[in-house]
Amino acid sequence: MKFFIDTANLEQIKEAQDLGILDGVTTNPSLMAKEGISGQENILQHYIDICNIVDGDVSAEVISTDFDGMVKEGEKLAELHGNIVVKVPMIKEGIKAIKYFSDKGIRTNCTLIFSAGQALLAAKAGATYVSPFIGRLDDVSTNGLDLIAQIRNIYDNYMFETEILAASVRHPMHIIECAEIGADVMTGPLSAITALLKHPLTDIGLEKFLADYQKANG
Ligand code: E4P
Repeated sequence: MKFFIDTANLEQIKEAQDLGILDGVTTNPSLMAKEGISGQENILQHYIDICNIVDGDVSAEVISTDFDGMVKEGEKLAELHGNIVVKVPMIKEGIKAIKYFSDKGIRTNCTLIFSAGQALLAAKAGATYVSPFIGRLDDVSTNGLDLIAQIRNIYDNYMFETEILAASVRHPMHIIECAEIGADVMTGPLSAITALLKHPLTDIGLEKFLADYQKANG
């Protein structure tokens, strides 16, 4: 399972990269705004800065909602750095743009996936990744993990190469359950990733090992 971090915060990206387990980064316009990144040139430079930290895929989202606009923006983003994956919303024009990018060899991440039908369409258009938002489904009393399982089944039936990128991950159990189902990738906050480290018995066990060493060695 690939681990992506879902942030535009360079410090957190560096911290995750230093762990040695980071495979990529996802961003979106809200995450960029949260870091105070605005203006076309600053936004493009920020993507380059992220790509220079992480040796892996970096999703950069288009703002346009029409085919021509998405193509123009996406081609510009893809030219920034070899790590860039163009993130395209799951709308009719987005599907057309994903097919266009796929034919040109430009990698895409189809975002805002909330149903199996949407994931099927994105795969048929040739998306590199689909991003089902599991946390936001949970927020409206719908099991996001059920959607991951449904997409896994559909993609396996037809051997689609599109990777399932479980997005809107909120906590460590989301990551573990996505891994059990067979999501190809998860993207979430650093806190959800580092929470995987924690177990009280590990802390108690380590404390005892160190105390016993001290007793024996003075
Ligand atoms: C995915 O690529 C999105 O950036 C993200 O996972 C959305 O997560 P949220 O629901 O926590 O905003």
